[in-house]
This record gives sequence, structure tokens and C-alpha cells, in this order.
Amino acid sequence: MNMKSLAVLCALLVGTSTWADETTDDGRIRLGMTAAERVEFLAEMRQMLTSIQGIIAGIGTEDREQIAAAARYSGNRMARATPTSLRQRLPQSFQDIGGPTHMMFEEIAIRADTDDMADLAVLTGETMQQCLACHAMFRAD
Ligand code: HEC
Repeated sequence: MNMKSLAVLCALLVGTSTWADETTDDGRIRLGMTAAERVEFLAEMRQMLTSIQGIIAGIGTEDREQIAAAARYSGNRMARATPTSLRQRLPQSFQDIGGPTHMMFEEIAIRADTDDMADLAVLTGETMQQCLACHAMFRAD
């Protein structure tokens, strides 16, 4: 390799590492959780994904009981389970997305008794907009 191509390679490597540093700082807000709070919080998140899975599977097989049970698990029960110490420190903008998300799961559970499967799919899609909105804004560290 001659000196010129070595210089080009170095420039590329430096450029790449600068780019990586910028993307690490991804512009989302840190929630400032303790390690223990984070473990519990992320476990609840995975449970919400499990609820979504159960709801979609239930819509696919038109199993109203499965939809309601899956939705209820991430409804008010989960909202009440957030430790008070953590809830008091969470920003209002976080709570403004999180609270209604649990309410929407309760709504899916109630409407699972009566609504068309297509309408339940629409409501599930709307609920998942909440997931996207919050994930775009916050980090659990
Ligand atoms: C009010 C805010 C908020 C809402 C609403 C929300 N999440 Fe999250 N979720 C987070 C944050 C913050 C993280 C951590 C992201 C990070 O640190 O990079 C997270 C992480 C996760 C993870 C990763 C868990 C792990 O073990 O790493 C999953 C899965 C997840 N969320 C699923 C969902 C689903 C599904 C929904 C909607 C039904 C949802 N979340 C709604 C804030 C939210």
C-alpha cells in the first residue's frame, strides 16, 4: 500500500469513528433509573410485547377470550404496579404517553367482547403508536 492510499484509509477510519460517536448520542431523553428499576421496567416492557403478541394471535384466530386476557395483563394492573418512587421521578411527558397506553389495553379488553376483528386490529395499531412515540423519545438508563 502506498502512502496515498494509507492516508485515504486513515481518513475513512477517523470519519467512521466520529460518525459512530454521534449516533450513540441518539437524542433521546434519559429517564435516570437505578439498575433495579431498569430491570423491573424492562421486564414490564417485554410483557407489553407479549400482550401485543397475544392480541394479534387472538385476532387471527378470532379468540375473544385470548385477546381480552392478553390485553388486560398490560392494562390498569400494570399501571398500578409502577413503584411510587419511580413514578414520582418520571417526566410528565413520559407519563402522558404511558398512562393512556395502559388505558388503551383496557379498552381492547372491553371491546374484545363485541367488536369486529378488523376494528380490534385497528385499535391495536393505534395502541402501538404509543409504543413508537415513547421509544422515539426516552431511554431507560
Ligand atoms: C411511556 C413510554 C413507553 C411506552 C408507552 C412503551 N415503552 Fe417500551 N420502552 C420504553 C423505554 C424508555 C424503553 C427502553 C429503551 C432504551 O433504553 O433504549 C423501552 C423498551 C422496550 C422493550 C425492550 C425491553 C428490553 O428488555 O430491553 C420492549 C420489548 C418494549 N419496550 C415494548 C413495548 C411495547 C410493545 C409497547 C407498546 C404496547 C411499549 N414498549 C410502550 C418506554 C415505553
